Amino acid sequence: MPDLYPLIRPLLGALPAEGAHRLTLTALKWGVGGLIAGSGEPDPPNLKQTLWGREFPNPIGIAAGFDKEAEVPDAMLRLGFGFAETGTVTPRPQPGNKKPRIFRLYEDGAVINRLGFNSRGLEPTLARLRTRRRIGVVGVNLGKNRDSEDPVADYVEGVRRVGRLADYFVINVSSPNTPGLRDLQRREILGDLLRQVVTARDDTAPGTPLLVKIAPDLKPGERTDIADLAGPSGIDGIIVANTTIARPPTLRSAAAREAGGLSGKPLFAPSTALLSEIYRLTGGTMPLVGVGGIASAEDAYAKIRAGASLVQLYTALIFEGPALVGRIKRGLAELLRRDGFSSITEAIGADHVLGSPVQQQASSPA
Ligand SMILES: Cc1cc2nc3c(=O)[nH]c(=O)nc-3n(C[C@H](O)[C@H](O)[C@H](O)COP(=O)(O)O)c2cc1C
Repeated sequence: MPDLYPLIRPLLGALPAEGAHRLTLTALKWGVGGLIAGSGEPDPPNLKQTLWGREFPNPIGIAAGFDKEAEVPDAMLRLGFGFAETGTVTPRPQPGNKKPRIFRLYEDGAVINRLGFNSRGLEPTLARLRTRRRIGVVGVNLGKNRDSEDPVADYVEGVRRVGRLADYFVINVSSPNTPGLRDLQRREILGDLLRQVVTARDDTAPGTPLLVKIAPDLKPGERTDIADLAGPSGIDGIIVANTTIARPPTLRSAAAREAGGLSGKPLFAPSTALLSEIYRLTGGTMPLVGVGGIASAEDAYAKIRAGASLVQLYTALIFEGPALVGRIKRGLAELLRRDGFSSITEAIGADHVLGSPVQQQASSPA
């Protein structure tokens, strides 16, 4: 099937970013994804992996924010993604920030958003998750309401109400668009938050993986704190990373001065460096999901070699369309073969083995 996205892209580009996104979701609901993507080929067998007892046919996921309310998780899986993450969803409905709040930075292959957890609350998401056929891995990314007086209680409520409807949970403490949210990453708060969400998970959905999504803007001490807390807390993985509040001087687009979180190409290098650091700090023992600026098979492969068991993308999809997913999978399978890896699991963290930071850490006395 030919890739029709190049024909559609100018139409979407002419719409305000949020309108284009709404139209895309509607089209996906009507089932036109396959027509546009040219999808349908089976996944290369060397991309398959079992993680947390779940089968991932390939490691490429759609990142949170694309499908905030679980409207199209199965359509995304049909497009060829190996897993889909819905959310961020907050317990109660809230409008988010004033529009416009999504800006496309064409010259930079980037986006700035300051949506601010616009959400119809948990109920519509739960209703949709209840009625879907449970095929494929669909995670639920949880947030807190802006006006919440007890942030930890919001995450606990999310875990308890979603329960077994999620194939994995994400505790999102890293969006830059909810005041105070990223402070939850600080050691003294995060320890208590993780304890409480892990307890809620163990009560309502034992065995469901619980991941924490972190910001690319963490200070060195905060990175060490998170790595130290992660293992003992009982969480199952870390997603590295959310959008950045940094504005690299290389940005060329006029919209670069907009407030919000920057995603896409300029985020690739810093988020991959952080991923590598977190892999090293956790001694390669904690599954990591690498996200930030992936736009090619080479990018996905670099994240995997840096330590990601799975990867996700969002922004590149806006510029390249859904055929990108097939291109990344084919390219990634080829890169693995080129480097003598018989399966993706062998390549995870491969960049660390030669220089041996993981081995050094593992063998040094505690
Ligand atoms: C428009 C937009 C909305 C997003 N909303 C969320 C969100 O609700 N929750 C979340 O954890 N991340 C959200 N993200 C961040 C992405 O999940 C991802 O971490 C980030 O964009 C980096 O990946 P990318 O460069 O491939 O886009 C959003 C990103 C964009 C562009």
